[in-house]
Amino acid sequence: MRWIDTLEAAAAEKLPEAAHRYFRQGSASGISVREAVEAWAAYRFRPRVLNDVSAVALGTTVLDTPVDAPILVAPSTLQRMTDPDGELAMARGVGAAGSVMGVSSNAGTKFAELGQTGVPWWLQIYVVRNREITLRMLDAAVEGNAKAIVLTVDTPVVGRKEDDGESVWSLVQPGQLLANLPDGDWTDDDLDKADDLTPDVIGWLAERTSLPVVVKGVLRGDDAKRCADAGAAGIIVSNHGGRQLDASIPTAQALPEVAEALAGTDVEVYVDGGIRRGEHVLASLALGARAVFVGRPALWALTVGSSAGVTRLLTDLADELDHTLRLVGCSTPSALTPDLVTTRFVN
Ligand SMILES: Cc1cc2nc3c(=O)[nH]c(=O)nc-3n(C[C@H](O)[C@H](O)[C@H](O)COP(=O)(O)O)c2cc1C
Repeated sequence: MRWIDTLEAAAAEKLPEAAHRYFRQGSASGISVREAVEAWAAYRFRPRVLNDVSAVALGTTVLDTPVDAPILVAPSTLQRMTDPDGELAMARGVGAAGSVMGVSSNAGTKFAELGQTGVPWWLQIYVVRNREITLRMLDAAVEGNAKAIVLTVDTPVVGRKEDDGESVWSLVQPGQLLANLPDGDWTDDDLDKADDLTPDVIGWLAERTSLPVVVKGVLRGDDAKRCADAGAAGIIVSNHGGRQLDASIPTAQALPEVAEALAGTDVEVYVDGGIRRGEHVLASLALGARAVFVGRPALWALTVGSSAGVTRLLTDLADELDHTLRLVGCSTPSALTPDLVTTRFVN
């Protein structure tokens, strides 16, 4: 059995039930979370043969940051529930794998401390109703040496999780969440996600931080184009791991349309959701992604093996990508083209 496939069950043994359930679940009836992996597995390859694949190189750049392989870690909350060092352990693991880490607005670790690990990291921001909070968080991220701002746009309201049992929020200890919330007497209304955002917010973030802005949560070509026109440097095709609008289309299905809409621009396209194997990474890259993000597998790996677990997850996936690249007859991710991929049993 692949080590990656053992991770969730091993993590479930170590985590409180409510935390495991929170990490794995989707919103509403769970259609999108169920379909995510299946949608990648529906692709079929049309390999090239008689190509010299004796020297494969996985290295690339994401927004000018060099990475050892095009496999990055998605932002997620509650990492201190998986490992006492939380985001710091994640950062060490990601850094050792030569990758990039997405850091949640809700992280339980100060941005300055993350910066000190030397890992290249991108701040995921939820713009909240009281923009003063967002602005101060952005300033702290810049001071902590964030390399990009990831604006999550699929969360005007938080997706409802329909589950019974103890809530994970009753287990959260002080310091595990919102370590970067600026001091102040904030009300719930101040902290609510902004639901009046338009593409103008992209320029606002870029101007405040002088950092590239990546828009996370896009599933349509026309929206990708609107973001690009408003100055986005990157787009993450994502349905939030099936945790926002349930029954939104799988990212495996959305990616080709977004890549096509941005063809010929220098906007970088990334994808997340259900990516669990080298074959899934390969399909993503062939269909136009520059890199992929993994969410839940990184949380399981952190729970099971702390920073070394995260490094192993990323290097195991990179090793699978290397293997699969050779089998489709390509030596680098940039040699992958859409014609290498088709949908199940068509053609
Ligand atoms: C427990 C958990 C917490 C998450 N927290 C955030 C978050 O704070 N901000 C955000 O933009 N996305 C968040 N996400 C979504 C991930 O960034 C990512 O889009 C998703 O997990 C990718 O799907 P995968 O888990 O199937 O790889 C979270 C996902 C999980 C599972």
